[in-house]
Amino acid sequence: MDLATRIARLRAEIERHNHAYYVLDTPVIPDAEYDKLFRELQTLEAQHPEFSTPDSPTRRVGGKPLDAFAAVRHAVPMLSIRTETDISDAGAIAFDVRVRKELGLSENEAPIEYACELKFDGLAINLRYECGVLVEAATRGDGETGEDVTQNVRTIHCIPLHLKGCAAEVLEVRGEVYMSRKDFERYNERQREQGLATLVNPRNGAAGSIRQLDPALAARRPLSFFAYGLGETRGWDSPVTHSAVLDALAKMSVPVSDERAVVRGAEGMVKFHRRIAAKRDSLPFDIDGVVYKVNSLALQTELGFVSREPRWAVAHKFPAEEQITVVHDIDIQVGRTGKLTPVAKLEPVFVGGTTVSNATLHNEDETRRKDVRIGDTVIVRRAGDVIPEVVGVVIDRRPANAGEPFDLFKRLHGKCPVCGSRIVREEGEADWRCTGGLFCPAQRVQALLHFASRRAMDIEGLGYKLAEQLVDGAIVNTPADLYKLGMPAVADLDRMGEKSALNLLEAIEHSKRTTLARFIYALGIRNVGEATAKDLARHFGKLERLMKADEVSLQQVPDVGPVVAQSIIAFFSEPHNIEVVKALLAHGVQWVEHEAQAVRESPFSGKTFVLTGTLTTMTREQAKEKLEALGSKVSGSVSKKTDYVVAGAEAGSKLDKAHELGVAVLDEQQFLTLLESV
Ligand code: IVH
Repeated sequence: MDLATRIARLRAEIERHNHAYYVLDTPVIPDAEYDKLFRELQTLEAQHPEFSTPDSPTRRVGGKPLDAFAAVRHAVPMLSIRTETDISDAGAIAFDVRVRKELGLSENEAPIEYACELKFDGLAINLRYECGVLVEAATRGDGETGEDVTQNVRTIHCIPLHLKGCAAEVLEVRGEVYMSRKDFERYNERQREQGLATLVNPRNGAAGSIRQLDPALAARRPLSFFAYGLGETRGWDSPVTHSAVLDALAKMSVPVSDERAVVRGAEGMVKFHRRIAAKRDSLPFDIDGVVYKVNSLALQTELGFVSREPRWAVAHKFPAEEQITVVHDIDIQVGRTGKLTPVAKLEPVFVGGTTVSNATLHNEDETRRKDVRIGDTVIVRRAGDVIPEVVGVVIDRRPANAGEPFDLFKRLHGKCPVCGSRIVREEGEADWRCTGGLFCPAQRVQALLHFASRRAMDIEGLGYKLAEQLVDGAIVNTPADLYKLGMPAVADLDRMGEKSALNLLEAIEHSKRTTLARFIYALGIRNVGEATAKDLARHFGKLERLMKADEVSLQQVPDVGPVVAQSIIAFFSEPHNIEVVKALLAHGVQWVEHEAQAVRESPFSGKTFVLTGTLTTMTREQAKEKLEALGSKVSGSVSKKTDYVVAGAEAGSKLDKAHELGVAVLDEQQFLTLLESV
């Protein structure tokens, strides 16, 4: 095969995978395979620059940072649409009345056909295709002149670099660049983990990234696009209705939302408005309303424009997803894993369709970065089924008697608000945590489940529902109480027959004979996974020695660094935890040293993993916890000792290193499959 053909085939194949991944959301090849194709194309183009083209998928990576954006004069002005402020049905009815009046239609004449769409909440963009190739992308600007953001727009994977089956001389596609809720949450989560600034909302995320001068930075922020109309066209045979125009664009592989409808009259628009309002929360992106457009392009021309707004379109809004209100207090909630989360207690406010009186502040750093204080007026956001959050302070409205800058430790006097145990914040961690893991009521269910899990005390039959019942009924407060359970209490529980009650009691009794490693692991000490528990058991031999160990002796254990050592010390210096440990021993829990090897082997035990790139189904932190719970070690760098590298999206140098050293690489799907196999 000659070079030109090979390059053309690579491009076509990569674009096909891009489309499958970014538009259809159904990738067909593993990321590693895709990367291989991509790198081959990059190499060939670098070696043979004469073959490089503006629509090659390699151009999506972004070029050099710019000093400023060039101005682009729009061939056809980018106008905005009138917003119907009445969010009730009357909004749609009033629009239909106006349109009919303008067209001089009497009541007896047939209803008008309207194209109904979503009103996406992002940034308007004009994509200019010449002979089917994307040559320029511009923001709206003042409607006459926008900014040339072509480099950044190329990094948006769902935007085609060339149109399928369309070679029109000029075809300008207009639409909205937006950030999905999932991408927004994931981006912010990652920023928070690293103590970096977060985005206020997806709209700012989209606008900020498009107007980012460094395309490499823009490319890091995941954006998407939906088309909703056209700009200049030349040499294109246009359909006669707006809905058919969008259908035609979709056929050319331009992303067009499926959530649209062609309806008749006001009644049809009202129905659409209601239907979309009902599913607004479950959409994967923010919308702030719907848009109605007269479907016939001929009628659109007849209606024309008034004060730079088309008479043939209107935006019909939904209730806002952001509102301002006052912070009455800042509470601190204890999560199931002991994580302490500051929560703003608000003057109740109607936002995103419900009344909100609590909003998360995420953690201490976020609260300080936003400088939220008691008495402040804040912007609260609730979109989709995401927990309401405080996104910022309206600083002009800060009262003279506003509270102090937020200090979580000071506010709690260093004690868990639920159980009074000490609180700690590890180095490099954003969250404060309660150290009373075995004792704290907020953590009981979690502690119990972990304690009973297969690799810990292995109490078969003690699942979530049961653990919750035991805790809620105050039958079991700490894992030690499990060993006090008797037949009547257990048999009384929901959905518990005599036989399963007996089985459970037997499993509990059976678990008393365990190994030191399992016991240590079962305590649920933060950062102590199965592998570390084994190392600790082997090194110290006796529980008493581990309990008394100081930082220096703990760090002599393989793979125990300062963070793990601190977690162990924090755990055993909490008297509440000691009480539970003593109670467990008093109830007859004992270990047989030589059974240490009996822990069931799995593909994970003793293996070293490196996590890199972005995972879509969990955070890296969660993946790490899972792996450690299964007896693996998670390391920060790839070496010959690494058994597996798990490579998420945008994996970089670690993945390269893995290839270089011949270390096995798992993509996210393969990793999930392996996790499910145990
Ligand atoms: S049509 C001439 N359709 O809302 C008509 N606009 O003022 C041009 N928007 O910033 C706009 N979804 O970016 C249209 N389905 C949709 C839209 C939409 C969002 C944005 C648009 C503009 C504003 C309209």
